[in-house]
Amino acid sequence: MKLKPPSFSARVIAWQQSHGRHTLPWQRTRDPYRVWLSEIMLQQTQVATVLGYYERFLQRFPDVRALADAGIDDVLALWSGLGYYSRARNLHRCAQAVVERHGGHFPAGSAQLAELPGIGRSTAAAIAAFCFGERVAILDGNVKRVLSRVLGFDGDLATASHERQLWAEATRLLPERGIEAYTQGLMDLGATLCLARSPQCLLCPVHEDCAGLRTGSPERFPVKSRKLKRGRREHVWLWLQWRERLWLAQRPDTGVWAGLWSLPEFDSTADFEAASVGWPGAGEGLPSFTHVLTHLDWTLHPMRWRLPDRVAGSRVEAITDSLGAGRWFDLDDALAAGLPAPLRKLLAAESAGMTRR
Ligand code: ADE
Repeated sequence: MKLKPPSFSARVIAWQQSHGRHTLPWQRTRDPYRVWLSEIMLQQTQVATVLGYYERFLQRFPDVRALADAGIDDVLALWSGLGYYSRARNLHRCAQAVVERHGGHFPAGSAQLAELPGIGRSTAAAIAAFCFGERVAILDGNVKRVLSRVLGFDGDLATASHERQLWAEATRLLPERGIEAYTQGLMDLGATLCLARSPQCLLCPVHEDCAGLRTGSPERFPVKSRKLKRGRREHVWLWLQWRERLWLAQRPDTGVWAGLWSLPEFDSTADFEAASVGWPGAGEGLPSFTHVLTHLDWTLHPMRWRLPDRVAGSRVEAITDSLGAGRWFDLDDALAAGLPAPLRKLLAAESAGMTRR
């Protein structure tokens, strides 16, 4: 495991300069606001997906004050579809903290950055390296894979002490100069060559030094024992419409799709049937689908219920009161709100049915 720091980092840097990515929009700036935004968006999300969101977000919120002053609903609306919505809530909180605690300027060190909401140790290090040239190690999921392979590090990363060891190794390997290219190089290696499955070892600038490759099965690394237990969930999703409007419920602040506007849920068809006894109008089952989240397969059975236009407001109110907190949306307003991706898709596919009949 005694990889030599200068030769390792020198190869990563040289490779980054010739083969790495240089034209991503957040690489053309040292503005911590832009770099921070990109790093948060890029957690768990591919570059290709992030690009459009990143540009739209910056147009709407060009600086940290604009974001801090925004309402959370506007932030969630622009985040809608990126997933992992706690990131958007923390992003908003972080912007407010930067304004309140630091006068609207991100602090210029990784240690202070890591004290802000939603900025973990690796993200803080990436921002500090890219914006301020701080010589500090990153260790996100991709970089854990690269380093554990190169080092042949087979400690179980589900254990805190092994994770600490890998952080120490990441720090030991840092170059004296060129931290920006080195940091980006590790990210680029992880994203383009040192892939979880079928790594492209022959193209890798450090394959001669790679202990994982020498074992014959680099894919064995990183070792992480704790398996994610996937759950299953099933709900009836109520698409309730009246006079060309749609009833949406705001989801709780925690859990899946925290704070987004979504359709009211029922635990089972029987529950829905019990709740809708005596409602005017009629229901129509739409095709069911399964939405796959990291930890959960969630099967949803959408049920469209049209309340006739002539039904009195007071009667309608009695129905919506039974659905908990929510409000009516025109289709356009609904599409502009923070919606879970599958609901946006459903609305786009089925919105023809919104028109009055
Ligand atoms: N993933 C996380 N940070 C990244 C960056 N700066 N560039 C490309 N991919 C990334």
